Amino acid sequence: MFEIAPSILSADFTKLGEEIRAVEKSGAHFLHFDVMDGRFVPNITIGLPVLKSIRRHTGLSIDVHLMIVEPANYALEFVAAGADLVSVHVEADPHLNRTLTAIRAAGAQAGICLNPATSLASLEEALPFADFVNVMTVNPGFGGQKFITSMLDKIRRLKMMVQERDLPVKIEIDGGVEINNIAQVVAAGAEIIVAGSAVFGAENPVKAIAQLIDAGTVWT
Ligand code: DX5
Ligand code: ZN
Repeated sequence: MFEIAPSILSADFTKLGEEIRAVEKSGAHFLHFDVMDGRFVPNITIGLPVLKSIRRHTGLSIDVHLMIVEPANYALEFVAAGADLVSVHVEADPHLNRTLTAIRAAGAQAGICLNPATSLASLEEALPFADFVNVMTVNPGFGGQKFITSMLDKIRRLKMMVQERDLPVKIEIDGGVEINNIAQVVAAGAEIIVAGSAVFGAENPVKAIAQLIDAGTVWT
């Protein structure tokens, strides 16, 4: 089983409400919300005020991906603003266990994100404190980048790590997903699949989500 988490980064922000309603109709469960600060990644996107207004208009689970330095300073504000899931980058936080514990205590699911160049060894000790791990399949910062194929093996190894430890940790993957590679990421063990340009770059986002689900279901 896997689920699509459409990333609004590729949506048309002048009609965000409409775009989100379309996603709701598609049966998607999550909405992926990319926060970038121009420091951890070379791009700036959206933050708390946008999250608060989206929260008032959707029942979807909002999955906030913090691509910011010192994420512990803001993680709880994002929970208070309506995030259901909050993930922080291991590269940005020297006190990961504390941050994950605080996110959970505030009532959200806590996730660890890993850049493509970051080894799985870096999250080993923090894994029991997490509800999910986001394996980045592009270098974070922009939508519409090409999927890094070597991440398939990383997803497989993470799946084994989680199974060996018998932990209820879900695997999310983020970046470059399209019709032609979704079956491979599902087969590798991905359970929450972020898709930005493949959904909102398509003429019909509802149809695009259905096609992604179809293409990924071949392997389940
Ligand atoms: C990239 C973001 C992604 C992005 C994915 O840094 O974290 O969530 O929106 O977009 P696509 O699916 O277009 O690669
Ligand atoms: Zn993301």
